[in-house]
Amino acid sequence: MRPEGDRNELKRRRQLKTGSIAGEDAASLGGANLELRTALPEDYPGVGALLVEVYVGGGFSPAERAPVLRAVEPLAADGELIVARDERGGLMGTVTFLLSGSRHVELAREHEAELRLLAVAPAARGRGIGEALVTECIRRARDHGCQRLVLSTQPTMAPAQRLYMHAGFVRAPERDWSKAGSPRLAFTLELARATYRRSADS
Ligand SMILES: CC(C)(COP(=O)(O)OP(=O)(O)OC[C@H]1O[C@@H](n2cnc3c(N)ncnc32)[C@H](O)[C@@H]1OP(=O)(O)O)[C@@H](O)C(=O)NCCC(=O)NCCS
Repeated sequence: MRPEGDRNELKRRRQLKTGSIAGEDAASLGGANLELRTALPEDYPGVGALLVEVYVGGGFSPAERAPVLRAVEPLAADGELIVARDERGGLMGTVTFLLSGSRHVELAREHEAELRLLAVAPAARGRGIGEALVTECIRRARDHGCQRLVLSTQPTMAPAQRLYMHAGFVRAPERDWSKAGSPRLAFTLELARATYRRSADS
């Protein structure tokens, strides 16, 4: 028998595909259908290329990091690599969901989950795909019973910071840090007071 998490994932994939719970997603995407799911091995090359395009191409990561960004297998093995595909199967965006204790965690402590490497294809921005990916991480963090979802962002990532604030994250300056001399701003979302009802989704 499949673990409950897998069954919920399959159910959500089915619902998103059929549009039965795509009401909010469809509205925010101007009526388009978006499939959000954990990446499969055949998704990895596309996700790697998208991460290089967005992070190196966007000036957020040095060119030397391209090989690490492109090789997503270790990330997918360590956490939940999530992809957003449009109704024609085109890769629109990605994000990685990590539980504390995972090797790729940068900020999360015990009972926390971390969102990393959020990226939406430049041509697909401003349609709610970033918001849908962040919402999916919040849903997964609640499913895992986490107390808090945390993330780090760079000072120049203004659209991402607006998105996080809209989703309910708050700045946590006491957890700011720096990566290879480049500052990272911490954001946290408390899940304990959330109104989410798991039973409504299962
Ligand atoms: C940050 C990022 C992921 C946002 O992706 P996105 O898909 O454009 O995000 P959304 O569409 O959900 O939201 C962006 C804006 O579009 C608006 N929007 C959402 N749906 C919309 C729609 N249907 N029509 C018009 N605008 C819409 C949102 O209100 C938001 O506006 P705001 O910036 O004024 O708040 C993307 O810009 C990106 O990849 N940036 C580079 C990498 C990065 O910074 N990653 C974060 C790492 S911490």
